[in-house]
Amino acid sequence: MNSYGVVGNPIQHSLSPLIHHLFAEQTNQTLRYQRILAPRDRLEYVLNQFQAQGGKGLNITLPFKQQAFQLVDRLSERACFTASINTIQFNEDGSRFGDNTDGVGLIRDLALHHHFSLLGKRILLLGAGGAVRGVLHAILQEQPEEVVIVNRTESKAIELVKTINVCSRVRVCALHALKELLFDVVINGTSASLMGDMIRLPKTCLQNAFCYEMVYGKGMTPFLRAAVDAGAAYCTDGLGMLIEQAAESFYIWHGIRLDTMPVYTKIIPSYFNMLRIT
Ligand SMILES: NC(=O)c1ccc[n+]([C@@H]2O[C@H](COP(=O)([O-])OP(=O)(O)OC[C@H]3O[C@@H](n4cnc5c(N)ncnc54)[C@H](OP(=O)(O)O)[C@@H]3O)[C@@H](O)[C@H]2O)c1
Repeated sequence: MNSYGVVGNPIQHSLSPLIHHLFAEQTNQTLRYQRILAPRDRLEYVLNQFQAQGGKGLNITLPFKQQAFQLVDRLSERACFTASINTIQFNEDGSRFGDNTDGVGLIRDLALHHHFSLLGKRILLLGAGGAVRGVLHAILQEQPEEVVIVNRTESKAIELVKTINVCSRVRVCALHALKELLFDVVINGTSASLMGDMIRLPKTCLQNAFCYEMVYGKGMTPFLRAAVDAGAAYCTDGLGMLIEQAAESFYIWHGIRLDTMPVYTKIIPSYFNMLRIT
């Protein structure tokens, strides 16, 4: 039986095994998909072991996406842009192909499950870690009017914009300078919600905005609560993104494009996922 998995640290919370087994069931595949906990300094060893045992593909999650980028032979164009990967395909000839499906996952979730387009929108993107790195390229391809990035550590946002050489429609902003600004979309790409925390935004940033929390399965996070309190137009968490990025990995490994709706509707009731406000 072909073997797949997701490598991270921590990893026990991951829904990827459930999602990939549901995809496999839907397409009559038999496969094994397991969670793999890698010590923070042993990613290369874990990849080598998995490949030596005949493993076919891996998803890579926090905190290894940038490190894994260095450990493959060939990369997709979008992975080159993001300098981080979340998917590895192990080929028959022993080579490794790396891709990043987070960006396409976000855009498909917005389009398919929320019927929302970023075209011409003013976007506030919170964070400057792997998640924001992974989605920025895909967001820009949707031709928003502007993307403003705010991060707790501003220097990291400046460095991110510099290293991935994005266009003039992206700029970094200090938190205190947000008071004057209004947005159509606010995307929380920080991990602050995992600690019950958030970047404290002026209410005006969230008011009437489409608010997207990349963290999933945490119910009403501080970010979503602030969005509701400020009068956001629409709020959702990132479960749909998780499913869509997984579907793109599934396509890379199996060459099968899935209808994700059956999996989405199966998983979604167990989460306080969507909260339509208006
Ligand atoms: N739904 C999905 O499919 C999906 C996909 C990818 C990621 N995610 C989620 O996105 C989140 C971020 O992942 P990542 O890979 O970018 O993590 P990361 O590389 O570790 O980056 C973490 C980011 O969060 C910020 N942050 C952490 N704690 C904070 C706090 N208390 N207050 C304000 N900012 C804080 C960090 O700011 P500093 O730079 O100042 O440290 C940094 O910008 C994770 O929770 C992950 O679960 C979801």
